[in-house]
Amino acid sequence: MKTQLSFANLAGIETELLAVLAVDTQTSKEKDAKPEPILLTTDDAVKAAATTVLSSGEFKAGANETLLLHAPAGLTAKRLLLVGLGKQAKATVHGVRNAAGTAIRFTKPRGIRELVLALPENFSESPLHAVVRAAVEGAFVGDYDPDTYRSDRKDQSVQSFTLAAPGNSDQDAFKAAFADGVIVGESQNFTRSLVNEPGNKLTPTILGQRAMQMAEQVGLHSAVYSTDKLHDLKMGAFWSVSQGSEEPPALIVVRYEPEGVTEGPILGLVGKGITFDTGGISIKPSEKMELMKYDMAGGAAMLGAMRAIALLKPKVRVIGIVCAAENMPDGKAQKPGDVQTAMSLTPDKPGKTIEVINTDAEGRMVLADGLTYARQLGATHLIDAATLTGACVVALGTINAGAFSNDDETYAKFSAALATSGEKFWRLPLGDEYAEQIKSDIADIKNTGGRHGGAITAAEFLKVFAGDTPWIHLDIAGVAWIEDSKPYIAKGPSGAAVRSILEWVRSY
Ligand code: BES
Ligand code: MN
Ligand code: ZN
Repeated sequence: MKTQLSFANLAGIETELLAVLAVDTQTSKEKDAKPEPILLTTDDAVKAAATTVLSSGEFKAGANETLLLHAPAGLTAKRLLLVGLGKQAKATVHGVRNAAGTAIRFTKPRGIRELVLALPENFSESPLHAVVRAAVEGAFVGDYDPDTYRSDRKDQSVQSFTLAAPGNSDQDAFKAAFADGVIVGESQNFTRSLVNEPGNKLTPTILGQRAMQMAEQVGLHSAVYSTDKLHDLKMGAFWSVSQGSEEPPALIVVRYEPEGVTEGPILGLVGKGITFDTGGISIKPSEKMELMKYDMAGGAAMLGAMRAIALLKPKVRVIGIVCAAENMPDGKAQKPGDVQTAMSLTPDKPGKTIEVINTDAEGRMVLADGLTYARQLGATHLIDAATLTGACVVALGTINAGAFSNDDETYAKFSAALATSGEKFWRLPLGDEYAEQIKSDIADIKNTGGRHGGAITAAEFLKVFAGDTPWIHLDIAGVAWIEDSKPYIAKGPSGAAVRSILEWVRSY
């Protein structure tokens, strides 16, 4: 999708479709209080073109509600699309992100290839350049569809998206914010395109190739290792997951080293990259098992974030690690009861031993070694993302993802990042009482802690391997895959966590 920022007069813009956002200003909660929609523009000609329909009561400006007018009077645009943001008092910059996506997804199936979105004015406390960025991100998010393998795929992509800002704007700040939004939106879609790939098309090896390709395009250092390296590093936990598959594992390492930065934090981004999770010998029921192709969404989120980091160039060093494997049952697969030895931070000391109670608790196994490796490479702060537990989905549903941390200061920075990303994470507790549940009779720890607090005991497991390094764990099992399409986003891979991880990195 081609994108541009325009400072031209709205009324005179030549376009197939001009989209303008609207809010409902009605404050009364009375049952029969009528909606009072207004347009978020200062352009009198645009307002005039919509007066009749706004007073008709047909359009209530509800969130992502749309109404299309043809041949709007007094405008050069061929069509005028109204997109609602909901109640004025509740309208936010995140609402604009979604509304931009809605405008794109309205346009796409109608064979309209090009549109202009008027930047909404005077609706929230947020600085306008933040709105610019959110609108562009939302447009990219809306443009993505997961139908790449359909031979009847209609190429309905919107070819050109223009954001029209008032002529008297701070043009330099707007241009910078716009360029940011393009990078972030494209990076989130890069993640989605990886997550969408089925297990046969995206093996650990192929994920490694895709990561290297991306790294080369944006100027990151990258290396992809396999079985031998896992043995060299004594990554017994990671290796144990891959041992039941014909597909070799991939340890993907992508580094961002900004010029002149030799001091300060090194951020370690570690992602779960299970390209397919059958459960292994503790095999999953077949219902919905096909969705377990998205079990590499945490790893893909890290790669998307690394792509954006490379292009946005923050002044902090970052290492991205993806632990990719396929979890399969086989004659060589690990068995419940097996004891594995995880990688050790210090080569002279042996690593922690893990009793494998359930081979389906494989994400924490691969991440254990990924976290240790990140620390060995010098990471001073860690963040991991994983589709780790069904328990997290039970606890928080598909609205909030789970977040955990062993360090309040580090988490505070993540929490602040959420204000920019607009993503929803809910911090859940950790604690020694929970760690009791993963004590093993025959090894240092076991890989499951029973049904109670399953997302928490999984996090407690990872915490062991984060050690004393400040660490955040994101459980995105419930949010990485969208079951039903929304007006602003297609069903399928969401690209969750990319924007939040990126903002967290940029805060250093
Ligand atoms: N990949 C799954 C978690 C998952 C479930 C992701 C649903 C997305 C949607 C993970 O590897 C897993 O199987 N976890 C087990 C852990 C259990 C065996 C302790 C689970 O959640 O049931
Ligand atoms: Mn599993
Ligand atoms: Zn899994």
